[in-house]
Amino acid sequence: MRFDTIIRNGTIVTASDTYAADIGVTGDKISAIAAQLPIENAGRVIDAAGLLVIPGGIDVHTHLDMPFGGTTSADDFQTGTIAAAFGGTTTLIDFAIQYKGQTLRQAFDTWMQKAHNKAVTDYAFHCIITDLGAAQLEEMGDLVREGVTSFKLFMAYPGVFMLDDATIFRAMRQAAKHNGLICMHAENGGAIDVIVQQALAEGKRAPKYHALTRPTTAEAEATSRAIALAEMAGAPVYIVHLSCNDALEKVREARDRGLPAYAETCPQYLYLSLDNMDAPGFEGAKYVFTPPLREKWHQEKLWQGLAKDTLQVVSTDHCPFCFKEQKELGKDDFTKIPNGGPGIEHRLSLIYTGGVHGKRFSANRFVELVSAAPAKLFGLYPRKGTIAVGSDADVVIFDPNEEQVISRKTHHMRVDYSMFEGIQIKGAPKTVFSRGLTVIDGGKFVGRPGAGQFLRRETHNSIK
Ligand code: URP
Ligand code: ZN
Ligand code: ZN
Repeated sequence: MRFDTIIRNGTIVTASDTYAADIGVTGDKISAIAAQLPIENAGRVIDAAGLLVIPGGIDVHTHLDMPFGGTTSADDFQTGTIAAAFGGTTTLIDFAIQYKGQTLRQAFDTWMQKAHNKAVTDYAFHCIITDLGAAQLEEMGDLVREGVTSFKLFMAYPGVFMLDDATIFRAMRQAAKHNGLICMHAENGGAIDVIVQQALAEGKRAPKYHALTRPTTAEAEATSRAIALAEMAGAPVYIVHLSCNDALEKVREARDRGLPAYAETCPQYLYLSLDNMDAPGFEGAKYVFTPPLREKWHQEKLWQGLAKDTLQVVSTDHCPFCFKEQKELGKDDFTKIPNGGPGIEHRLSLIYTGGVHGKRFSANRFVELVSAAPAKLFGLYPRKGTIAVGSDADVVIFDPNEEQVISRKTHHMRVDYSMFEGIQIKGAPKTVFSRGLTVIDGGKFVGRPGAGQFLRRETHNSIK
């Protein structure tokens, strides 16, 4: 057999196994895995001695080129997928937003245009539903058939994205009918709005009030309500960007009852806390995202949630806005600060550092959280999310001992600050392949804008 690439001498790590073997890549697929592959038949041979060979990361929560808060997120599908690839992420699931009065298809078409000819690695979409009439309800099935098999609904952002319970329930029933998955932004937007208006009336306008007006109880209540609505609808539910122990407890209770309730958290909730919002001047705006940062003690609860499978996935909720000119839109009023933070690049390194080096879980669990479980839940497995013959050759050669300090000076995201500035990581990608093509090699981007393909996803798979 002829191989375009052989990766030899590495330690393959999947969600279930760790073993020494060579990997052969032919075209865009993994074509062989064996103790020793014949290198004379290979176009290129890479020695991965001392390194881990893992499936490409899958980030199921990003917002590229997204109009929000009076501006547009700073990374588009080119800069965002390049930054992701530097960090070992080779598949994104972004969000196509249906604005009020639009069909779901309009949302899908608009976001397909945004990604076309730009993405360097593969991508898929969830559809954000903001307006669900009879026609859009029908369309949910059409989208599932076209590979958009999950939908994000909001219980927050009244007047923008928020849906009432009846609409959420209708969407869940329809999703259940078509084996789609509902992803829920779970915060009680109505109650939060009352607290926000009171803060403004009291002259509280600094960035920190973004966090102080969004209590953990508002997240826990909405998480519990989302799970209850899903149970009534007979639907699975996936809670996005879970930030605090109160909400985690609601997911734990549901899972203990055997309900198909899933949740993700993001590196910002594992590494940052309310203390970051005390940064001098307006600097706290760098950490204005939703749900907000919490008191520090929640971090360890979330790490334990990842270790014990109360949380199944780590995504980034990458939604970058530059500090200059974008975050500054809210200089005099925290409610006008565009909500979102940049994180697409450092997910794997941060989770490997805190999870594996931090002795909270194994390298297999790390792969499960950043690649295998997202692939299974969102209909991409085993094409993505594992190292197996026949899978896409999305492969990351990862140095578990490479030490770096995160900085905006060295990152590749198109944003003028890093949420994780100064944080030391241990474990970083060295070489990254996307469907057999090298995209990152020796710290350099060598991929091609437009090489990324839209992924028609299968329907959701439940995981235990
Ligand atoms: O603050 C955030 N998270 N911005 C992105 C939109 C969302 O709610 O996920
Ligand atoms: Zn959200
Ligand atoms: Zn988001």
